[in-house]
Amino acid sequence: MKNIVILSGAGISAESGIQTFRDTDGLWENHSIKDVATPAGWRKDRTLVLEFYNQRRRQLKDVKPNKAHELVKALEAFYNVQIITQNIDDLHERAGSTNVLHLHGELNKSRSANNAKLIYSQDGDINIGDKAEDDAQLRPHIVWFGEDVPLMSEAEKIVKEADILIVIGTSMQVYPAAGLVREISAECTLVVINPNDTDFDFNGRAVHIKENATKGMTYLYNELATK
Ligand code: APR
Repeated sequence: MKNIVILSGAGISAESGIQTFRDTDGLWENHSIKDVATPAGWRKDRTLVLEFYNQRRRQLKDVKPNKAHELVKALEAFYNVQIITQNIDDLHERAGSTNVLHLHGELNKSRSANNAKLIYSQDGDINIGDKAEDDAQLRPHIVWFGEDVPLMSEAEKIVKEADILIVIGTSMQVYPAAGLVREISAECTLVVINPNDTDFDFNGRAVHIKENATKGMTYLYNELATK
């Protein structure tokens, strides 16, 4: 079986009702990155940061995977499918996908503010005073701006082995995630699904399906499922 690697971003979950970050009315229009998604923001106001992610976690209970997530799962009948997602939601898993690497962390996990290795599953809100086993405050298990991306080298290895890389629903503005595309082999087929153009330079290698995630994946699935 050939290897398909999916690099997904907020756009794949947009049709499930989860806001993207950088589109008009995206999350970063109404919240300051500095305040809610950096270590400095955490030091300044932990309550604000916890509430921002508590809201996102609560919202997960009201949304469900869309057809794009489902078709990514359905490709497993024909290919080895590995997902590398920048998303912190669990919609790929809920669609049944088996291999999901969360580059930027997961809403349904928390961790010790002092030790990135002490990670827990997190169902409800994280509150001030909720402690990890090292007695440190729990924080969301999210990679904030300015922090290392611990799963990067694993992601690079996966991308190098891709026969087909599908980049779906990401503005390709955030590094090191966007740089993963540079790791593909000379033989790899690169497909981008995004209703908009991005400023990212795909070196002329990308086939751009200029549609939203559900329509674009439907088209691509029909192309790939029979081969
Ligand atoms: N289908 C497919 N793509 C869509 C759709 C849709 N229905 N709606 C919007 N998009 C595209 C937009 O055109 C845009 O290019 O999804 C992209 C969303 O981009 P961002 O909001 O920047 O999200 P993402 O690329 O995932 O952001 C990367 O930035 O803030 C951080 O850590 C956060 O993981 C996130 C990272």
